[in-house]
Amino acid sequence: MTSIVDQLTARIGAAFDAVGLPAELGRCTESDRPDLAPYQCNGAMAAAKLAKKAPRAVAEEIAAQLGGDEMIADLEIAGPGFLNITPAADVYERQANAIAADDRAGAGHVEAPRKVMIDFGGPNVAKPMHVGHLRSSVLGDSLQRLFRFRGDDVVSDIHLGDWGYQMGLLVTELQAEQPDLPYFDPAYEGEYPSEPPVTIEDLSRLYPQAAAAAKEDDERAALARKATAELQAGRRGYRALLAHFISVSIAALKHDFDTLGVHFDLWKGESDVNELIPDLVADFKARGVAEKSDGAWVVRVARDDDKKELAPLILVSSQGSALYGTTDLATILDRKNTVGPDLILYVVDLGQSDHFEQVYRAAYKAGLAKEGSLEHIKFGTVNGPDGKRLRTRAGGTFRLADLINEAFERAKARLNEAGLGSELAPAEFDRVARMVANAAIKFADLQNYRTTNYIFELDRFISFEGKTGPYLLYQAVRVKSIMRKAEAEGLTAGPVRITDPAEAALVRRLDGFDAALQRAYELRAPNHVCDHVYALAQAFSSFYAACPILPEKDETIRASRLMLAQTTLKQLEIALSLIGLDAPEKM
Ligand code: ARG
Repeated sequence: MTSIVDQLTARIGAAFDAVGLPAELGRCTESDRPDLAPYQCNGAMAAAKLAKKAPRAVAEEIAAQLGGDEMIADLEIAGPGFLNITPAADVYERQANAIAADDRAGAGHVEAPRKVMIDFGGPNVAKPMHVGHLRSSVLGDSLQRLFRFRGDDVVSDIHLGDWGYQMGLLVTELQAEQPDLPYFDPAYEGEYPSEPPVTIEDLSRLYPQAAAAAKEDDERAALARKATAELQAGRRGYRALLAHFISVSIAALKHDFDTLGVHFDLWKGESDVNELIPDLVADFKARGVAEKSDGAWVVRVARDDDKKELAPLILVSSQGSALYGTTDLATILDRKNTVGPDLILYVVDLGQSDHFEQVYRAAYKAGLAKEGSLEHIKFGTVNGPDGKRLRTRAGGTFRLADLINEAFERAKARLNEAGLGSELAPAEFDRVARMVANAAIKFADLQNYRTTNYIFELDRFISFEGKTGPYLLYQAVRVKSIMRKAEAEGLTAGPVRITDPAEAALVRRLDGFDAALQRAYELRAPNHVCDHVYALAQAFSSFYAACPILPEKDETIRASRLMLAQTTLKQLEIALSLIGLDAPEKM
């Protein structure tokens, strides 16, 4: 479907071409002065030099060329030579009917679908998820929805952190508490129990306990490092323990992610690629990709034109352990072998930029991936009211689960205050409150360009007014209720007819959908989807205020307005789903 902007661009481009100027100058956009005209073209300004004429003279020539174009109802030359364009009403009507008839409400597909892996979420086994993981999850999930919707073959992977030092910390902490478990007896040869020796609560207690102890005490830390190395080298009891830690964590994580409505295709982790590491290291050594440095094996990745020095990637530490970069390289190999992606997106905070730069360069150098096929999708921090990284009142890291619960409680309170949901059954009320809570958290996050830091203000996010997730759900619910009433009265939608400027304005917003999705896709930036949904909801509000739907007496006008409402709802629901939001039927 070609948008009105693109149709106008083609016409005006042809007019430029006809007077011997480059067609690209005909690029048309929505006007920044919609009070003057809805569309504009500034090409005459840029053409003046080429044409050796005043811009206004060029604009007049173009206008003359366009005289009689049935798409254009009015064309004005403003100021030094801006073209202000008002399309004919039937242009809006045709476009609205095409969008209404389209299952995808005007959204297109990528030209050449690719296989895209999205690595996001990235929680660490045993360490509770914090708000940084929230950003990765919400952003990564929106990107997987968007890429899939546009036609790519997407495989998402949570990439659990389950292989590093934190595992050694956990193993040794449990050993201190329960030394008699068979996992710690090197002589034990029997089968290990299938019941996990710990619960998720144990894990969330053991880890901080161990981390704090190791910080204070070098010997304690050395013990954990030794256990990490033994675990990685394959010590049976430790591996069995690790398997329990992972399964207990995954069960808890699945619960949290279900609550948030975030899905992963693969639940792989760092530990899954362990078997690939020895060969990978041997290969890197044999081909001279890795070199020896102070007892460690490193890959030098600095380039002459680097603005700031990039340290080598440590492939094998001087203690013989695989590090974060090693597992990331082995994961690239694993993904190449098992999925074969054309592109991998890593949705990880921008604090890890150097790490990913090292990994990507090492992967390209070793021929594990094609130059440019690995992308770090960076994001900023979630801050507290003091502008610093969000902390709990006690100064600890803010646990994601607490934040989700708090949002749920506030959502219930807000619904009650607003007198919403009063006629819902209790279970349904909770379901709606959950949708409102998730919408609040997700939209607040996604509406910012991802590298922007934002301040976490639950009260503002959860409001039903302003640019918030709950406002958008409320608008969608409003349209749903109009459609339900229409159905109950036996009223049906019919072809769109433009009778009011608010109708044309709504069609313009509907028509901007695909461009917004394309921008969001290209920049890996769902904030463009957020801006679009918000503008659409507002355009619908203005339309609804100006143009009665159900009370309208004229049958064709009423049917047309119903069609506009129905189309708006379809596009709203698609757009909301792309940012992970779900609107209830009633609230
Ligand atoms: N577990 C890591 C963390 O919490 C994030 C993992 C990101 N993905 C990756 N392939 N390194 O910081």
